[in-house]
Amino acid sequence: MSWTPSSWRAFPIKQQPTYQDQELLKQVEETLSSYPPLIFAGEARKLKEKLASAGRGEAFLLQGGDCAESFADFNAPNIKNLFKLMLQMNMVLMYSTGKPIVKVGRVAGQFAKPRSSDFEEINGVKLPSYRGDIINCMEFSEEARIPNPENMIKAYNQSASTLNLLRAFSRGGLADLNKVHQWNLDYIKDHSLDTRYDEVSENIDKSMKFMSACGLTSDVIPQLHQTTLYTSHEALLLNYEESLTRKDEETGEWYDCSAHMLWIGDRTRDLTEAHIEYFRGIQNPIGCKVGPSMGEDELIELIDALNPDNEEGRLNLIVRMGASKIREYFPKLLKKVRDAGRNVVWSCDPMHGNVEKSSSGYKTRDFSNILSEVEQFFAIHKEMGTVPAGIHLEMTGNDVTECTGSASSPITAEGLASRYHTQCDPRLNASQALELSFTLSDTITKAE
Ligand code: PEP
Ligand code: CO
Repeated sequence: MSWTPSSWRAFPIKQQPTYQDQELLKQVEETLSSYPPLIFAGEARKLKEKLASAGRGEAFLLQGGDCAESFADFNAPNIKNLFKLMLQMNMVLMYSTGKPIVKVGRVAGQFAKPRSSDFEEINGVKLPSYRGDIINCMEFSEEARIPNPENMIKAYNQSASTLNLLRAFSRGGLADLNKVHQWNLDYIKDHSLDTRYDEVSENIDKSMKFMSACGLTSDVIPQLHQTTLYTSHEALLLNYEESLTRKDEETGEWYDCSAHMLWIGDRTRDLTEAHIEYFRGIQNPIGCKVGPSMGEDELIELIDALNPDNEEGRLNLIVRMGASKIREYFPKLLKKVRDAGRNVVWSCDPMHGNVEKSSSGYKTRDFSNILSEVEQFFAIHKEMGTVPAGIHLEMTGNDVTECTGSASSPITAEGLASRYHTQCDPRLNASQALELSFTLSDTITKAE
């Protein structure tokens, strides 16, 4: 039962690349181990406290970002647009719920992807699948698909720069509540959403003026001037995660310092395998995806393996059943966990169970299914008397056309081609994400 950052290596593991040059792999791992951590253990502990309050219904978790970050799309405007979108969604949700919103990006490390098949075949040519920029390249050629250990160094550097900019935006004034109007993304300005967002911003403006008249300005109350955006990703590539696992000097405990929060994907959560072994030893707050194949007893065993002390805020179960399956599969799991008295932060990922192929051939998700899964998630919690603590989305601050439907951005199957840019799964664009936030606000307000 003894755990070390490398004890996962003795277990079977899924969804990993086969590196040809083992010597180079070792060198890269050594280099990464010598680099500074990207986050500090104290921050991860703070996030755990905030997630604990979300689990009790005193805060709400908003987790979102790209399905997969890419080396090619790495630039300041993309990061800034995601940050602004997060702030807008935060404002809409905070305004309606009256609760603090715990903001966690799928960002600064979300590079490795599990795939449904090890190979991809196009016109009779069969090549290894693309597994995310931290592993190989998306381009369909033999050369591009060879896993390259050095991509881990590139991913680390990109994560460091991304995090640096996010920290600057969070602390440097962009998040100031006097700037709510400036967070609106240009292409949302002609939408009906803009009017609804304006209403919220104007009310906030009024409150800010009133508070300022009372002497309560951002100079004296830092919370009005700055925010915190935590980072997260799926810790799939354990060579990378192990290299960034560090012992915290203050507590003597191990933390994965590649991000504040890490999660286990639905395809790699087997109890007897490497990912569970790795995750049980790190003290960060962690997530685990829960899809339709999860069994009730299996779920309790998984919870006990990952959170043996039943600590609040430690474990976020991210439910991703699909709109047509959540009613059948989720209530019995929720009841089992509730009756067993396990502390869990339940969130809803309405993306991964709702993937479909559009008539135009693109992998997409329809906005109505996404909304429907969210609404059912809340309704089921209400019936069970449990807490729907958060939402987990794939989204971008850019004006892409990847998911169909929605009132604010009515994208048709034919329209998907115009700006379909995702590296992997289809994301909500900013207006779809904002529309979802308004609907979510209405759902939350109704449920209370
Ligand atoms: C993801 O979150 O990008 C993902 C692959 O999810 P899941 O493990 O739920 O399929
Ligand atoms: Co995805």
